[in-house]
Amino acid sequence: MTRDEQLRQAAYAEMDEHKEIVERDPYRLRYHLMPPVGLLNDPNGFIQSRGVYHLYYQWMPFKTGHGAKFWGHYSSTDLVDWTHEEIALTPSEWYEKNGCYSGSAIEHDGNIHVFYTGNVKDEEGNRETYQCLAVSEDGVTFDKKGPVVHLPVGFTAHFRDPKVWKQDGTYYMVVGAQTTDLKGAVAIFRSENLADWTYSGILAGGGRGKLADFGYMFECPDLFPLDGEDVLIFSPQGLEAEGMKYRNVYQAGYVKGSFDPESTAFEHGDFEELDRGFDFYAPQTTLDDKGRRILYGWMSVPDQNEQNHPTIEYKWLHTMTLPRELKVVGDKVWQIPVGELTALRAEGVVEHRVTLMRENKELEGVRGKTVELQLDDIRIENGWLDLTISDGARLLYHQSDKVFTFERKSYVDGTVEKRQCTLNELKSMQIFIDTSSIEIFINGGEETFTSRFYPSPNLDRISFSASKKAEFRLKKWSLKRG
Ligand code: FRU
Repeated sequence: MTRDEQLRQAAYAEMDEHKEIVERDPYRLRYHLMPPVGLLNDPNGFIQSRGVYHLYYQWMPFKTGHGAKFWGHYSSTDLVDWTHEEIALTPSEWYEKNGCYSGSAIEHDGNIHVFYTGNVKDEEGNRETYQCLAVSEDGVTFDKKGPVVHLPVGFTAHFRDPKVWKQDGTYYMVVGAQTTDLKGAVAIFRSENLADWTYSGILAGGGRGKLADFGYMFECPDLFPLDGEDVLIFSPQGLEAEGMKYRNVYQAGYVKGSFDPESTAFEHGDFEELDRGFDFYAPQTTLDDKGRRILYGWMSVPDQNEQNHPTIEYKWLHTMTLPRELKVVGDKVWQIPVGELTALRAEGVVEHRVTLMRENKELEGVRGKTVELQLDDIRIENGWLDLTISDGARLLYHQSDKVFTFERKSYVDGTVEKRQCTLNELKSMQIFIDTSSIEIFINGGEETFTSRFYPSPNLDRISFSASKKAEFRLKKWSLKRG
């Protein structure tokens, strides 16, 4: 048996052995993408090819921790119903023996080409990194071509997560990096044929420009045009918290500007976080055949109490976010849940016109663990409006302070912890709850809060309160899969 076959069999055996316990978990989500067993992290190789969306993912099948990652694989024609496919990549070769790390996909000559990082560590923990290519006719079975990019001078071996695209007939690759003087950076390469790559310099960071002093490592870069501008998404590590900003252990966000494909120069503005919640990292986008730039993120953050999640005793850990369409509105990149998600709604919307006067209310038919809530025409006369989800989470908008707060009961010690952002006006909220996850889209996508939370499994209450007078229109749907 080859090493690849051994690893596949071992992973499938792990899936079979723990299938029942994983499915028994009351915190198992109902309409999100999760690992069948073990740990899931970054979205990888997100692409639509011949009408099928492929979303690969970082997967550790053997434990709820990090290690020598596989590429798991989901496919879908509608971004709602997904099929769990065969394992795409196992860490079977010398150049990837400690993990087929994150990467991206591009279609070329009708085949899917994936570029990913081969992670190698020796006994002393010294790291090597190779950017590798694998090719597939059907998106399911891959033919590994081995390393195509070696580490350029000036960087440490923290050099990974290639994202590849084609522009004006040339291929480009951005790679997340750390310079030898320990600055976070994005490196850029070019190629005429996807096999031979030339290093073209530092695209952003690396001790220069607006990101000169901005952490010690950038992970998972993704550069793409959006609404007439160029957006670089990446996940910096090593930022200090600054007021309401950068509260998580690591961040995920973007800079916006203008990329010159000739010189590979990139003029850009300041960094903005993409999400304000507790659990959002390593997002990746693709352009689909409707011309939409769609993003998936990993609903967690590395090294942030990962081993305390209650799902670990059920042998699985972490999930993807819902798919979101990106748009530039004014100065910001907005995230809007894709329209296809309305297919999750079960028959029978519950509607209310709500007026709260210094009171706390539950509303007829508004409860549940897998629900979508839409609040429109929100009007708050002074004071605050709050929405409480059983004993797990609370959303609060303070009209006079202009601050939006998300609070949850910590899964580490049960205390209340919060994330916040300033918001000039709260007009609407679209909220997706899925047993132990919540995604809040404010004002149609201007701000988002993405978090795991763990309410008592027997509770499904949702209540609303206002300190003075607040009014809104509410719609509630129960959500189901398929
Ligand atoms: C981001 C990340 C990537 C790496 C992968 C390993 O979460 O650390 O930089 O490729 O995860 O699983």
